[in-house]
Amino acid sequence: MWGIIATWRMALEGIEEAEKILIQDGKASQAIETAIRNVEDFPYYKSVGYGGLPNEAMEVELDAAYMDGDTLDIGAIGAIKDFANPISIAKRLSKEKVNNMLVGYGAEKFAYDEGFESKNMLTDRAKIHYHNRQQEILQQQIKPYDGHDTVGMVCLDNDGKMTAATSTSGLFMKKQGRIGDSPISGSGFYVDSKVGGATATGLGEDLMKGCISYEIVRLMKEGKNPQQACEIAVNQLDKELKERRGEAGDISVVAMNNKGEWGAATNISGFSFVVATDTQEPIVYLTKNINGQCIHEKASEEWLNEYMQERMKPIIKK
Ligand code: GLY
Repeated sequence: MWGIIATWRMALEGIEEAEKILIQDGKASQAIETAIRNVEDFPYYKSVGYGGLPNEAMEVELDAAYMDGDTLDIGAIGAIKDFANPISIAKRLSKEKVNNMLVGYGAEKFAYDEGFESKNMLTDRAKIHYHNRQQEILQQQIKPYDGHDTVGMVCLDNDGKMTAATSTSGLFMKKQGRIGDSPISGSGFYVDSKVGGATATGLGEDLMKGCISYEIVRLMKEGKNPQQACEIAVNQLDKELKERRGEAGDISVVAMNNKGEWGAATNISGFSFVVATDTQEPIVYLTKNINGQCIHEKASEEWLNEYMQERMKPIIKK
């Protein structure tokens, strides 16, 4: 039995690559790294890896994490610049006994010393997005922070091993050195092969307030199925934030248990996710929260085509 679940439609091609590995008895470690690298390498996804949107100083600072659900090993990097595949650096770090989370210069030095590929991650397209956003801020008084679509995945292989991983450029126009939930264990991701795993996307500052990925795994450990666990965790955090602070940021999650059962939940409209298992080809779903219950619908061909056209359409400098 195997399975893999990921946040957002952008994970589809990566999940298709992971499926080829898992079908042939490949390992959850390799499958998840391959899938995330696929997203990191695609220049038109503007919230992960190459082509990711820059911070307010027009630098692309990336966060990523990897967790092994058997050993509970974790590797995480924050605010790394100029390296092609943050997920592989995070995975490599997970093998260390100490120094498992490195940020900024320290992460870059480690990556350099270990021979990881360096690359200028700022594309011309991302520069135009940056310029246009500056114009919009000046002209329309809009908030700069927008676009924080982390790719997060949970994977189960035929040996029963589970992994979780994340990769993101974080908030568009964030402050230099800002780190969100994605590299933070328990917030952006958590996995325990004895139970299952979860990963989150949305506003990192709010996701961290609920340690939401750990909370989902804890609920599954208590006996909830992944769908119940995701819905309870999202609805509770959304409610707490609204009660205590007057508003809640975007919160979306996916989870899988060690039986290959999966779930997803969100407090926004338009959250998409991708799932493949030994009994199900990779499918993109759209989910919406109706009075606390999340209903998943298979994305239509039309939606899928429009998604790609929208991502790849030419952009004009304002
Ligand atoms: N969830 C990604 C971030 O806030 O950085």
